[in-house]
Amino acid sequence: MPEAAHSNQTASTTSAEEPSPYGGAATAPSGTTARGAGDAGGAPAAPPRRIRTLDLIKAKAEGRRWAMLTSYDQYTAALFEQAGVEALLIGDSAANNVFGHDTTLPVTVDELIPLARAVASATSRALIVADLPFGSYEVSDEQAVATAVRFMKEAGVHAIKLEGGVRMASRIRALTNAGIPVMAHIGFTPQAEHNLGGYKVQGRGGAGDALLEDARAVAEAGVFSVVMEMVPSGLAGQVTGELDIPTVGIGAGADCDAQVLVWQDMAGLRTGRAPRFVKRYADLHSVLTEAVGTYVDEVKSGVFPEPERSFD
Ligand code: KIV
Repeated sequence: MPEAAHSNQTASTTSAEEPSPYGGAATAPSGTTARGAGDAGGAPAAPPRRIRTLDLIKAKAEGRRWAMLTSYDQYTAALFEQAGVEALLIGDSAANNVFGHDTTLPVTVDELIPLARAVASATSRALIVADLPFGSYEVSDEQAVATAVRFMKEAGVHAIKLEGGVRMASRIRALTNAGIPVMAHIGFTPQAEHNLGGYKVQGRGGAGDALLEDARAVAEAGVFSVVMEMVPSGLAGQVTGELDIPTVGIGAGADCDAQVLVWQDMAGLRTGRAPRFVKRYADLHSVLTEAVGTYVDEVKSGVFPEPERSFD
């Protein structure tokens, strides 16, 4: 069974963490549930500390699932963390959901870094992962390390995500050798949508072996986790059973160790036809439309601003 290639990524090493000898954020016992975190006994609650990649690996070993969402700004980042989301992704889906493009391809490193910095700065507990955007890591291992270092230094993220399986093994080794935790993304990889012929389930029938090879290759190369997008549930369950590192599903069924969604999809801010795997947990589009409509009416009728919101 493939394992994380680096000994510091096995669940057995996740014993209590020492305070940092270099100062900085306080540490506390690990866990993966921010919501309701605290000491059940009489002792004062320990200050929260960042969830680390090792905590997520340990969660898998202990059969605990965890949740991941995209975030691209300070308010959603702080709110999602408070609601218990363990890992936040500054996805290259910002191309669609922030910048209004049709695909993820146009978004650049310079556009994503300020978003990632906002998310990292607004949080104290969630693990922050940034996508390496299209064109920023394909050329060479050196290019991948240089781009990832920018995200770590300039944005303060804790890990990066890149798309690809077997073909990315060398990049993953170079990044982890540089001390950068990597999350892989296999199955449907949006940056390759033109190559894949559109949004299609990957790994069906005979293609299942190639997906398994991708999963094994990234695990052997040293990723701490692997996202599987639009993969048949049975196959995703097989990968999840085989790997020691956590799998994160998006359209990959219920057997994955974690799930990820784009927040505007799950909160119902984005309307229209959604992919089959999206569940809308709220209808923010209606809530905001109503609020803004009322504001416009009140401005036009002179109801807003009221005397109590005005100065003498
Ligand atoms: O960019 C993104 O948002 C993603 C996920 C949804 C997995 O890659």
